[in-house]
Order: sequence, then structure tokens, then C-alpha cells
Amino acid sequence: MLELDAEVLQDYLADLMDWLVELTSDTPPRRILDLGAGTGTGTRALLRRFADAEAVAVDMSESMLGRLADRARESGLADGRVRTVRANLDEEWPAGLDSLDLVWASASLHHMADPDRSLREILAAVAPGGRLVVVEMDASPFPRFLPDDLGPGLGRPGVEERCYAAVADKHAAAVPHLGDDWGTRLTRAGFTVEAERRFVVHLKSPLPAAAGRYARAILARLREHLADRLDADDVTVLDKLLDDDGPYSILRRDDLTVRTSRSVWVARRP
Ligand SMILES: C[S@@+](CC[C@H](N)C(=O)[O-])C[C@H]1O[C@@H](n2cnc3c(N)ncnc32)[C@H](O)[C@@H]1O
Repeated sequence: MLELDAEVLQDYLADLMDWLVELTSDTPPRRILDLGAGTGTGTRALLRRFADAEAVAVDMSESMLGRLADRARESGLADGRVRTVRANLDEEWPAGLDSLDLVWASASLHHMADPDRSLREILAAVAPGGRLVVVEMDASPFPRFLPDDLGPGLGRPGVEERCYAAVADKHAAAVPHLGDDWGTRLTRAGFTVEAERRFVVHLKSPLPAAAGRYARAILARLREHLADRLDADDVTVLDKLLDDDGPYSILRRDDLTVRTSRSVWVARRP
């Protein structure tokens, strides 16, 4: 899912990196930490843009870090510029991760049990003048892909929105910090917010096949959590869209779009 996300949203990430290079032109970072690095989309993009930098990628998931290391090797970045550290950041801050020039936290801070505590730990680990980049999504994090009216044989309009409405309370309980006001939290932790920007993504059809696979992966996950929360007609529509061999498969639709947004805060340790 993370890799499909990276592939489909690559233009947004390139725009964000352009902006970051410009913002840091006074002091390009050399010591970077990717916090909650996942499969390393951010690590790789940062190392490509900051040629003199080295990165430590921290995540609690061994399998994510394994994948990150493989992808780094495939991208020619395994020459000592990337190191992985497995750690649960809700527990102790990993030893030796200090005097950092830039901490990148993309879609990870909302997973922390106590984000204010995490931000204070990050502040202590960043060198004076160093930066923290927070990338977060709205409270409803998944992109919208489908038109309102799915056409003949696929029920009433509005299926996708009804899916998200049905899952909203479950989601809010599982990830309560999603959609928080990170600017306020950053200031409260002692950072100075230097810049804030919202990236709105609206990709229109025709889209590469990866967009269909991404939409399918998200719909399948929704279907898993929604069986008891949607009316039977909507469940049937989801099943038709998820039937790869059937006539209504989402993988074969030529009218998909990708509509989402990311908010980014760049903050400095005074
Ligand atoms: C939504 S993913 C984002 C991954 C990556 N930053 C990206 O933008 O593609 C969140 C990541 O945070 C990691 N994570 C969540 N809670 C964590 C914790 N307490 N300590 C370390 N990593 C954590 C997860 O394992 C996952 O890889």
C-alpha cells in the first residue's frame, strides 16, 4: 500500500522536495532521520535531493525496514548513506540519534501514542537551527477515486462517500491523532514553525495502472471493515468492483481520479 501510494503520488512528493530544497538552501541537511520510515519513500527522496546527506531510517517494523534496505540497494543508495534502526518510538528514544539537521516525519506522528512527548524528544535530538518536517493527512486519509455515479449495474450514486462515513468513527478511535493541528503542537513543543503548506492532489484519468491497484487495495481494506456497517446493496457494489474477473472490476475502469491532500509543516529548533 505504501509503495503504491508513493508511485501514484510521486509528482506531489517531487513538488514537496523542490520546496524543501529551496527552504533549506541556507543550510542543506547532512544528518537526516526518517521517523516512522516505512518502506523508505521519504528516505530515498531526501537522499536523492541532498547529495551530501546520510540518513537513519527508524521504524518499529522489521519487515518495513527490510523492504527499505532492499529498495535503497536497488536505487544505488546502499553505499553507507542509509542505516536502519528498529525501535518503538513510543518507548525509549534510540541511542545516538542526536545533533540531527533534519527529521522527516511523514504520516508517522499520528501513530504515536503521545505525539507531544515524541515532539519534545525530536526537539532534543535536532541540532540548534535544525529542522523537523511533518507531513500529515486529513482526518479522512485515503484518496477518493470513484465518480459519484458509477454507472449502470452499480447501485445508487455516492458509494465511496458512504463507505468513508461508515468507517469514520472506527477510524477516529483507531488513529485519534489523525488530522490534528500539528502547527500548534510544534509550537507547544518548542519549535518555531518556519513554513506551512497544503498540497492538493487531483489526478485525472487516464491514469497509470498503479492508480487502479491502489484504489483496489484501499477498497478491499474498506470492504473488510465495513461488511456490517453498509447496506447490502453497497456491499454488493464493492464486491463487484473488487471482482477482478468480473465486468465491473475497478482495475478496468477508465474514469478513476485520485483526490487527496497532504499538509506539511517545516519547523526549526531555535
Ligand atoms: C503510514 S506509515 C508511513 C511510512 C512512511 N513515512 C511514508 O510516508 O511512506 C507509518 C509508519 O510508522 C511506523 N510506526 C508507527 N508507530 C511507530 C512507533 N511507535 N515507533 C516506530 N515506528 C512506528 C509504522 O511501522 C509505519 O511504517
